[in-house]
Amino acid sequence: MTSLFNNSPGIGPPLRLSLKAQVTDGNLYCITVAMKRERGIQQPGFLLALHFLALIVWSLPGARALDNGLAMTPTMGWLHWERFMCNVDCQEEPDSCVSEKLFMQMAELMESDGWKDVGYEYLCIDDCWMAPKRDSKGRLQADPKRFPSGIQGLANYVHSKGLKLGIYADVGNKTCAGFPGSFGYYDIDAKTFADWGVDLLKFDGCHCDSIEHLENGYKHMSLALNRTGRSIVYSCEWPLYMWRFHEPNYTAIRQYCNHWRNFDDVCDSWQSIKNILDWTSSNQKRIVDIAGPGGWNDPDMLVIGNFGLSWDQQVTQMALWAIMAAPLLMSNDLRYISPQAKALLQDKDVIAINQDPLGKQGYRLRKEDNIEVWERPLSELAWAVAMVNLQEIGGPRFYTISIASLGQGMACIPDCIITQLLPVKRKLGFYQWTSDLKVQINPTAKGVS
Ligand code: GAL
Repeated sequence: MTSLFNNSPGIGPPLRLSLKAQVTDGNLYCITVAMKRERGIQQPGFLLALHFLALIVWSLPGARALDNGLAMTPTMGWLHWERFMCNVDCQEEPDSCVSEKLFMQMAELMESDGWKDVGYEYLCIDDCWMAPKRDSKGRLQADPKRFPSGIQGLANYVHSKGLKLGIYADVGNKTCAGFPGSFGYYDIDAKTFADWGVDLLKFDGCHCDSIEHLENGYKHMSLALNRTGRSIVYSCEWPLYMWRFHEPNYTAIRQYCNHWRNFDDVCDSWQSIKNILDWTSSNQKRIVDIAGPGGWNDPDMLVIGNFGLSWDQQVTQMALWAIMAAPLLMSNDLRYISPQAKALLQDKDVIAINQDPLGKQGYRLRKEDNIEVWERPLSELAWAVAMVNLQEIGGPRFYTISIASLGQGMACIPDCIITQLLPVKRKLGFYQWTSDLKVQINPTAKGVS
């Protein structure tokens, strides 16, 4: 490994440096402006101009966000669906059925095992929590056997741990798993959730019979939640269902939702992660600029710590979810998670990129010869860059990129410090605009560890 520090930047003719960094798999880098951060301001005029330009470019008014003051950075927490699905058999599988016991155990661990401390705050129930029928007043009720304390009791418990509680409902006549839908009951359901002390609603879109029903339902529930006066993050699947008819109106969606699913459900497989990344990059012109504080594209749950992804693939999911400014909702079993997966999910530097206050979603910059380069602008003129080797045959591959091609030419003017964050943190040192960065990236084939 060669890392290089040049302490006479900006003097003399441009030097073309080739730096070798032996780094592996779904690599993530953070590029900071060296002049500003490390050596004080040497060319104030230039830096000021750059800063000014950056402010103009990056603060172009996006679409108006839902005006509830929530999700100013992507939501972080835990959501039961991918790992526990609709397991309602507490007789046979008491430890993995959808029940208050499961959520209480997760709440305890979120508090005791450092999850809350790094930002995972929302503990979210997905489908299959309900009793099959509403009560005599038309209110939803939790299955009494599996949730004997009711949702309110669970919310109190979750709040006592310093966490927030999320719940699930559906804009249509039934939830996807066939439990009572909210159609015709939006106001009652919003009030019920607020009365129980719920802090987030995931609103699904199954069993909806028309586009109007879908659109009006999502809007109606947003307004109903706001009218309760309680702060409730509103997580939508509106565009995912809308795509079946025509391209969604993302400007409208951002006005009503704090985050929104665009694409298929994540599964515990590399194919699923690749499909999500492909869909996102193919549609980046439509969806990247719409994201920002208060409203985010949601590529679905983190499946790190489960069964289907190799280590390199887990690193890749974490790196890319940070670049995409995605909600970080883990779906795994915090009781049995490996120390390695836990450390990855709790990586503070990567979380800081995901939660960067500038709130700009990243995008795929380049794909060539099965290598993808993604980048994301960060606050304080820094950039995050992720590289993925999608080749599923062969060993680690070298890839060289010119620094000048990153960050729309502005990631490293005239020089910068590059720190590798994943798969392991390492200072790569000082670079100039004219430098090359040479990295080694593991393939994402299964079984690499
Ligand atoms: C799907 C949704 C999943 C999960 C499931 C529950 O439509 O996309 O994330 O909520 O329904 O039935």
